[in-house]
Amino acid sequence: MKIAIASDHGGFSLKQELIPWLKEKGLEVIDCGTDSEDSCDYPDYAKKGCDEVLSGNADFVILCCGTGVGISIAANKVHGIRCGLCPSPEIAALVKQHNNANAIALGGRFTEPALAKEIVEAYMNAEFMGGRHQTRVDKISALED
Ligand code: RB5
Repeated sequence: MKIAIASDHGGFSLKQELIPWLKEKGLEVIDCGTDSEDSCDYPDYAKKGCDEVLSGNADFVILCCGTGVGISIAANKVHGIRCGLCPSPEIAALVKQHNNANAIALGGRFTEPALAKEIVEAYMNAEFMGGRHQTRVDKISALED
């Protein structure tokens, strides 16, 4: 599995915690930046991470900003991306099961690394349930047109 990961400065520290953990699990990681705690704009990094998913280079993207809110809003403006803000493992599983999210957002200033790892794990272990959820996801896609 290939995973893209991107953050602004508010999510940088969490991104740096997650990358070696993902690699230790044998996963391929595409680091889309940012590369420091210097102030930057989260929409730029949302776009970089989402593009890796849309091009087929990554199976999904982890997006981190301070709250997770800004970068998830930005990601959800990218055609073809369904990003869920995940404050808990339960919600992380549901954004895959119900929404078939191809991006998850984490709040680096509000999510301890240990919890963030549980969240990512829960998302990766979940499967899209299809059925009535597919109908709803199709209706989300129709909103893009
Ligand atoms: C950056 O200070 C902060 O606004 C950003 O990381 C994020 O929390 C926005 O939603």
